[in-house]
Amino acid sequence: MKPFTFPLALFAWVRLALALPQASSTTNSAAVIGSNDAAVAAGKLYFGSATDNPYLDEDPTYKSILSNFSLFGQLSPENAMKWDATEPEQGVFTFTNGDQIVALAQANGQIMRGHNTVWASQLPSWVTDSNFDNATLIEVMQNHVSTVIGHYEGQIMRGDAWDVVNEPFNEDGTLAADVFLDTIGPGYIELALLAARAADPNAKLYINDFNIEGSGAKATAMENLISDFKSRGIPIDGVGLESHFILGEVPTTLQAQMEAYTALGVEVAVTELDIRMTLPSTDALLAQQQTDYQTVVGACTAVADCVGITYSWVPGTFAGMGAADPWDENFAMKPAFDGVIAGFSS
Ligand SMILES: *[C@@H]1O[C@H](CO)[C@@H](O)[C@H](O)[C@H]1NC(C)=O
Ligand SMILES: *[C@@H]1O[C@H](CO)[C@@H](O)[C@H](O)[C@H]1NC(C)=O
Repeated sequence: MKPFTFPLALFAWVRLALALPQASSTTNSAAVIGSNDAAVAAGKLYFGSATDNPYLDEDPTYKSILSNFSLFGQLSPENAMKWDATEPEQGVFTFTNGDQIVALAQANGQIMRGHNTVWASQLPSWVTDSNFDNATLIEVMQNHVSTVIGHYEGQIMRGDAWDVVNEPFNEDGTLAADVFLDTIGPGYIELALLAARAADPNAKLYINDFNIEGSGAKATAMENLISDFKSRGIPIDGVGLESHFILGEVPTTLQAQMEAYTALGVEVAVTELDIRMTLPSTDALLAQQQTDYQTVVGACTAVADCVGITYSWVPGTFAGMGAADPWDENFAMKPAFDGVIAGFSS
C-alpha cells in the first residue's frame, strides 16, 4: 500500500466537481460539537486532517472547513514536504507548498505534523539513480533531513511532530529494501533521527508505518527497533500508526498494541486514519463505519500517550473501494463523524 500517492490533481478536480454545487446545503445540523473540541476535551492534543495544496488553491469551501479549529486542530501535508517536492534537484530546496500549509496552520492556530523526510517512495531519481556510495548517501540524507526540518524549526508550535522515517518495514518485520538500506545499511534510520534532532531539538520525532496497528510481525519489529533506540539513546519520540483500515477489520489488538508502544517510552499518534468500504455505500455499511471510527478513536482516548488522530482518505488507491472518511464528497458529515465524537467521549 502506498498511502498518499494517488494522482492528487485529478482527484482534486473530481472532488471539486462533486463538491461545489451542493456544498452549502449538506451540513449535518445534528452535530453540535466539533471533532477537535471533542479531542481536546478528552485530553488529546488534536483531531486533525491531511491536506494538500491543490485543494487549498481551488476550493474555498474545503479550505474554510479545514480551517475550523473546532473540527481540526492539526494539519499534515500529504505531499508538500516529501523529498520530491522539497529537494527535486540535489541541493536545490523548494518550500513554497509546505510554507503555504504551515502558514495556514499558523493562521488557524493548528499544530503541524511534518511528513516526511526519509522514505523509499516519491524520491527524485537523482537520489535513487546516482549510485552514491555509502558516505555520500549519508551526507545527502543528512543534508536533506536537516535542511527540511531546519527550515520549519521554530515556525511551529507545541506538539509539532515529524515523520522522520516513513514505512521502513516489510510485512514480515524485516527492513524494506530501498536505496537507503541497500547503501547505508540499517543504520540509516538512526542517522536520520540524529540529523532530525540536531535540526529541531523540540520536535517530536516519529517513525510512521502501516499494518503496525495490531499485533504481528511488523508491530513486533517496530517495538524491537524502538527498544533498541531507547537503550542506545537514539532520539525517538513517537510511533505513527497510519491506520488505513478496511471496514469491519479494525485490529482487535489496536489498544493493546498502542499500549505496547507507549510502554517503551514513546508516544503514539493515529496519523492517516481512513476506513474504506466496498462501494456503493449503504446504511448498514455506514453504521459499521461509525462503529469502526468509534473503536479507533476510543482506543486512542483510552491510551494516555496516544496524542492525537489525523484522518486521511483513499479515493483512488483501492479499486472499487472508498467512502473512507467521516465527511462525504459534498463535505457533509457522515455517521462516522458521530463515531469520532462518541470515541472521544468513551
Ligand atoms: C465549525 O464547526 C462547528 C462544529 O461542526 C460548527 O458548529 C461551527 O459553526 C463551525 N464554524 C464555522 C465558522 O463554520
Ligand atoms: C556506511 O557507513 C556507516 C558510517 O560509517 C557505517 O556504520 C555502515 O556500516 C556503512 N554501511 C555499509 C553498508 O557499509
